[in-house]
Amino acid sequence: MGSFTKYILFLMLVMLCKTTCNAKLTFSRRVNVAIQNDLGDGMNLKIHCKSLDDDLGEHVLSYRQSFGFHFWNNIFDTTLFYCNMSWNEASHSFDIYDELRDDDYCGADGDHGGDCNWSIRPSGPCLIVNKRVRFICYGWK
Ligand SMILES: *[C@@H]1O[C@H](CO)[C@@H](O)[C@H](O)[C@H]1NC(C)=O
Ligand SMILES: *[C@@H]1O[C@H](CO)[C@@H](O)[C@H](O)[C@H]1NC(C)=O
Repeated sequence: MGSFTKYILFLMLVMLCKTTCNAKLTFSRRVNVAIQNDLGDGMNLKIHCKSLDDDLGEHVLSYRQSFGFHFWNNIFDTTLFYCNMSWNEASHSFDIYDELRDDDYCGADGDHGGDCNWSIRPSGPCLIVNKRVRFICYGWK
């Protein structure tokens, strides 16, 4: 094969990849995480979330305010985000997205990995399942 032909083949591959290498869409799904401060009137929640690859920075949420982010989970079921949360004298760390634990509960459907909506309460975080009908609550460790 001449080098020009090789070059053309390479270009075609790149173009094909542009359309199908969004295989991301088939193997990995978009997950939206929302974290709401439900600590109580006048309480501010300081939150700092991180994964192996991303540092989402520190945010201060007033009562009922929420902080959201999204990501593409991975095909190995190992996506993990944790958050440090603090208010007044309290300070806790919690795995806000653990693919193995949460994938089934965040309303996965097709390409869309789902919405993980958290309500942060003094007793611990609660995951809202089925549009506010059911909660899965965890205590602080
Ligand atoms: C969370 O807190 C721990 C313990 O204080 C600290 O080592 C870690 O760096 C903090 N991480 C974030 C994302 O704030
Ligand atoms: C999560 O929050 C989003 C955005 O507010 C909403 O569209 C979705 O229905 C909520 N999902 C659940 C299970 O509450």
